[in-house]
Amino acid sequence: MTTPARYAVVGRPIAHSLSPRIHAAFARETGIALTYTAIEAAPEEFEAVLAAFVAEGGRGLNVTLPHKERAFALCAEATPRARAAGAANTLTWTGGGWHGDNTDGAGLVRDLTERRRHDLRGRRCLLLGAGGAARGVAPLLLDAGVSELIVVNRTAERADALCLALGEPARARARYWDDLDALGDFGMIVNATSLGREQSRVGLPFGLVAPGHCLAVDLSYGEAAVPFLAWARAAGCADAVDGLGMLVEQAAESFQRWHGVRPDTGPVYAALRARADALATAD
Ligand SMILES: NC(=O)c1ccc[n+]([C@@H]2O[C@H](COP(=O)([O-])OP(=O)(O)OC[C@H]3O[C@@H](n4cnc5c(N)ncnc54)[C@H](OP(=O)(O)O)[C@@H]3O)[C@@H](O)[C@H]2O)c1
Repeated sequence: MTTPARYAVVGRPIAHSLSPRIHAAFARETGIALTYTAIEAAPEEFEAVLAAFVAEGGRGLNVTLPHKERAFALCAEATPRARAAGAANTLTWTGGGWHGDNTDGAGLVRDLTERRRHDLRGRRCLLLGAGGAARGVAPLLLDAGVSELIVVNRTAERADALCLALGEPARARARYWDDLDALGDFGMIVNATSLGREQSRVGLPFGLVAPGHCLAVDLSYGEAAVPFLAWARAAGCADAVDGLGMLVEQAAESFQRWHGVRPDTGPVYAALRARADALATAD
């Protein structure tokens, strides 16, 4: 009997990760034999963990917080979307080095446009955050046709660096968090910060929301998404979406890269959504 090919997600913290469950479900659905585990790694352990994974026959890794930028820097080759992000969430061992991809942005856009049927074209978009997730989604939001992408981050220099890397000064510009009140209203607001993990209120101005048609998206899910989604509903957003669908879709993109098959994401998403709803009701 052949040994199943080995895959994993690496990050810190990692115990909460749904990726092993998602990839196991995709594997059952497509009939592909694999193992997919979660590996906890501190920043100073990251390279040693990757080397050990390869030595044990590992084929591919998902990379999550806080390693995505480091992962990209280690890649011998990378897709244009990983290069645009300067961050990788999907590593494939080629035999001589790592190939890097970033599936976060494609996962987000697929969830919003295909599952939820939102048209992103022409929307004025506010992106809160400039960390690994923001870097992953920003180029794909531009590709999806937003009219403007205003990037605001607590640490202003990171928003500047992200906009510089995007290379579209006419559409993508950085602004200061303290100036949020003066930015006008938006047809789409994406929360790519992790502030919901630390704070129970987001405290954003309601004037950011274009009345009647603003789409609010938090890349987080579960408890961490509650403060932003509560703010979005109170501010009158037409739809308020968490990052669970993006999580499933970015995993499907990684799965396709590794196995050449695109899984049906519907059943896994439905199961995770039911589980999340049950947990929220139990609180
Ligand atoms: N659904 C999915 O598939 C998916 C995929 C990736 C990420 N995510 C989620 O996206 C979020 C961000 O992840 P990441 O990888 O980008 O993390 P990261 O690289 O650590 O970046 C964190 C971001 O949040 C900002 N931030 C943190 N605390 C803040 C606060 N109190 N007030 C304002 N801004 C604050 C940081 O600003 P500074 O630069 O000033 O520190 C930075 O922009 C996480 O919640 C993660 O779970 C979801």
